Amino acid sequence: MLAGASDVSSHVGRSFSGLRERLRDSTASAHRELDAQLSAFDLTVFSGYRRFLQASAAALLPLETALVEAGIARLFPDWPERSRSAAIVADLGRLGSAVPFTVSVPALTRSGMLGTMYVLEGSRLGAKFLLKTVADAADPRLGEAAAYLNHGTGKRLWQSFLAKLASEEGCEEDEAIDFARIAFAAFERAADRA
Ligand code: HEM
Repeated sequence: MLAGASDVSSHVGRSFSGLRERLRDSTASAHRELDAQLSAFDLTVFSGYRRFLQASAAALLPLETALVEAGIARLFPDWPERSRSAAIVADLGRLGSAVPFTVSVPALTRSGMLGTMYVLEGSRLGAKFLLKTVADAADPRLGEAAAYLNHGTGKRLWQSFLAKLASEEGCEEDEAIDFARIAFAAFERAADRA
């Protein structure tokens, strides 16, 4: 991604591309693989959608817990608006399920929080598409359990996340990327197991 890169390339200590571009490029293949893996869940039927939510919760809950333990509310004062754990637990409850398992994730550094947030906030973009599939399902129970996929609609949380990422000084970019990969891997392991 070279467009606009000259704006940042002269900035001492900064890599040639912006951090968001580096995160996107470094996780593109993980995103493709996860996308392919998730397409195996049929989101138009009760059991497929429930399994998708179980897999998503199995990664989302421990990642959000790790963020909270690392102090995400200091980095993102609007964290309560961004957290989706309660929404996904409520959806699963409506479908008669608990969270059957969670995957383990490491403790986060400050830069690790940014890499993790990149993955979680980015997943809202995919959720928008998945929501359309769920909304088309003949079974009305699915649409009534879509708080997770609907979460934050209209609040421009992705855009405000990107603004915060761009304004961050002193982020260890390689570390942020490592943790973004770890977050994608958590979703992959959860989808494998669900
Ligand atoms: C089948 C499921 C998914 C589909 C169809 C999907 C689709 C998409 C699409 C279309 C975008 C680009 C949207 C835009 O630029 O406006 C996007 C971005 C993104 N998605 Fe997914 N996604 C899925 C699942 C996920 C999951 C589960 C995660 C993370 C756990 C994720 C992480 C991201 C990230 C980080 C971006 C931002 C990439 C960037 O920097 O531009 N996605 N996704």
